Amino acid sequence: MKNKVVVIVGVPGVGSTTVTNKAIDELKKEGIEYKIVNFGTVMFEIAKEEGLVEHRDQLRKLPPDIQKKIQKMAGKKIAEMAKEANIVVDTHSTIKTPKGYLPGLPAWVLEELHPDIIVLIEAETDEILMRRLSDETRQRDFESTVDIGEHIFMNRCAAMTYAVLTGATVKIIKNRDFLLDKAVKELVEVLK
Ligand code: AP5
Repeated sequence: MKNKVVVIVGVPGVGSTTVTNKAIDELKKEGIEYKIVNFGTVMFEIAKEEGLVEHRDQLRKLPPDIQKKIQKMAGKKIAEMAKEANIVVDTHSTIKTPKGYLPGLPAWVLEELHPDIIVLIEAETDEILMRRLSDETRQRDFESTVDIGEHIFMNRCAAMTYAVLTGATVKIIKNRDFLLDKAVKELVEVLK
């Protein structure tokens, strides 16, 4: 039987990594195992090895052709991991680059990954803005709530396109302030 591949996406700072890690911990308690793979980390390791970046926030500033090359290599690497276990891929539906929105899962990545479900983690734009401002560990780009709203819209459009190409379902989960547990519970249900 094919292992499950679930792709989790959301604009930077929405809390997709937080919700995913907590959901996987909950599932473990019930004996359901998933391996979490962070697409950005796999890309970062490849790019660092090639001497292209020093930290992960430089990835989206690389020329689009280089990002695509690294993206493809990461897609292949992750597809190999999916042969061994059920995986959750923590990534992005679109990446906001200086040259425009780059699809996180272009056809050549989808062909490798064959996702079963695509989960969009969302929150209100002002909540996302505040979370980015309070996160001192990262070099996040400053964006207005209108810009964040546009990115969420583009992510939804891209996610539905990926679904049309693969037959995956698209689930939207809200990760609102003070309601993290609700988001985690919903993701647990999706992953069961
Ligand atoms: P990556 O590091 O995955 O992306 P990121 O954009 O930096 O987003 P994060 O994962 O850090 O944010 P998050 O939403 O998970 O937030 P977190 O849980 O930390 O990727 C790095 C780079 O790799 C990308 O920029 C891109 O260049 C590249 N890349 C990745 N995938 C790619 C692809 N497919 N193709 C091409 N390039 C790709 O939470 C943020 C904060 O919010 C925390 O402080 C947390 O405590 C707080 N928080 C979370 N939930 C709540 C809540 N409910 N209430 C209050 N606070 C909350």
